Amino acid sequence: MMLKEADGLGLRIVVISGYRQPEIQEFLYQRYRKVFGRKALDIIARSGHSEHQLGTAVDLDSWQNFTRLGKRFESTPEGRWLLENSWKYGFILSYPKGKKKITGYDYEPWHYRYVGKEHAKKIKEMDITLIEYLESLYQENF
Ligand code: DAL
Ligand code: ZN
Repeated sequence: MMLKEADGLGLRIVVISGYRQPEIQEFLYQRYRKVFGRKALDIIARSGHSEHQLGTAVDLDSWQNFTRLGKRFESTPEGRWLLENSWKYGFILSYPKGKKKITGYDYEPWHYRYVGKEHAKKIKEMDITLIEYLESLYQENF
């Protein structure tokens, strides 16, 4: 639905990765570990710790301006449109820019998580991360 509406605006967004099996996450983690050493933990989750394993996250890229899931996705028309509009479809950016201390991960302009429209709207309005939002719900209710 989100991708279809984007397509209607001439923005072709492609899904690079969605649900990942534990073995796949482990494989990716090991590969990043070899290349980046300890820094890998800022980029990739260990098996059992990834939103991709919950099946709630997608990595999106642009067809016309393919960035191989790069930081420059943020400045493509597709990346910009997603950042502005994904909440309307229930998606939020999991690892926003400058929030590493809170999220634990480097900025990932391509990684979106589905939380449902109601929560996505509030998270967007409050301009906070999912973890801060969950904490605020907890404070309100307990
Ligand atoms: N790249 C993100 C953090 C993951 O591995 O789920
Ligand atoms: Zn991802």
